[in-house]
Amino acid sequence: MAILFSSQSALPFLSLILLAFAYTGSQADARAFFVFGDSLVDNGNNNYLITSARADSPPYGIDYPTHRPTGRFSNGLNIPDIISEHMGTETTMPYLSPFLKGEKLLVGANFASAGVGILNDTGIQFVNIIRIYQQLNFFEQYKQRVSALIGEENTKKLVEESLVLMTLGGNDFVNNYYLVPYSIRSRQYALKDYVPFVISEYKKVLQRLYELGPRRVIVTGTGPLGCVPAELALHSPNGECVAELQKAASLFNPQLVQMLDQINQDIGDNVFIAANTNQMHMDFISNPEQFGFTTSKIACCGQGPYNGLGLCTPLSNLCPNRDLYVFWDPFHPSERANRIIVQQILGGSNTYMHPMNLSTIMALDSRA
Ligand SMILES: *[C@@H]1O[C@H](CO)[C@@H](O)[C@H](O)[C@H]1NC(C)=O
Ligand SMILES: *[C@@H]1O[C@H](CO)[C@@H](O)[C@H](O)[C@H]1NC(C)=O
Repeated sequence: MAILFSSQSALPFLSLILLAFAYTGSQADARAFFVFGDSLVDNGNNNYLITSARADSPPYGIDYPTHRPTGRFSNGLNIPDIISEHMGTETTMPYLSPFLKGEKLLVGANFASAGVGILNDTGIQFVNIIRIYQQLNFFEQYKQRVSALIGEENTKKLVEESLVLMTLGGNDFVNNYYLVPYSIRSRQYALKDYVPFVISEYKKVLQRLYELGPRRVIVTGTGPLGCVPAELALHSPNGECVAELQKAASLFNPQLVQMLDQINQDIGDNVFIAANTNQMHMDFISNPEQFGFTTSKIACCGQGPYNGLGLCTPLSNLCPNRDLYVFWDPFHPSERANRIIVQQILGGSNTYMHPMNLSTIMALDSRA
């Protein structure tokens, strides 16, 4: 047998076995984490693309450990970062990062891309973004890369035991249906028919994800789309949340929960967990002071009414204390708001997490 391997070719073979061994050994404390979706969860993929949907200039990242922009649409950390923090794992790297290789791959990966939606035609104005089916293709490619590292069986196990976060839907309204008056989709569908169409397309996306192996997937609903500073600035003469967009969110979110229940029933297991990010945000909006915020209407970084017009840039107004603001920029929550959202994802009641919260999931899965 030994004659089959020259000592030179045996060496890489051996190191492969060692890596596979090390992987099985460390699996008890580390759970891989995968992130799919839009700008609410993008960790910097769009910085590698030619697109206008980027958070790559100051003051983005002003409260990040490096105090530099990273591509996250936040003053500091975003929701996936804070979930990783709670799981005791390193933050996931953007899939397009050249530094995501070797053992780093075992931490998981972030495939999200600002501007995307459930529908392929959402966010077309951003041109070069990673649409959701492409994110899933990259996930397949990821699995092949990890298989080469730790073998097919270990990869299957890593994926099955992983946690997934999926955040989509807001852009299918803001950057599609309502993007311009008389948009193609709004001429094609009344809102009450558009929502079930988007949900049925979402179901296909989630079924494809399930086929690829993950067995715990947190799916967030949309936030209160009509209450973000950008919408207040554009469409609210009196500072109240914009009714039409609120209606879209109030139709979308319950239908999403129903659809997830349906898939779980078909599968016979609670694979998909609904996070009611709409309610989490509404709590801030109805009573910002209760959470230590001074405003839920004015963005920290921006210009115009509510700092809601245009982008957050080096020339924008910038608030001195980001912790007092629910919104960092015209669309995205501040790190502190993200922290409170993740608290609810972890420990929230059934109103916030259906059918169970992340603490329960982690306790269940560690026992299994
Ligand atoms: C979206 O694109 C994917 C492939 O990129 C395709 O499989 C899917 O059918 C498309 N969805 C719609 C509704 O056209
Ligand atoms: C959610 O998690 C907490 C632990 O943080 C737990 O005590 C609570 O019962 C859970 N709530 C539900 C509804 O599962």
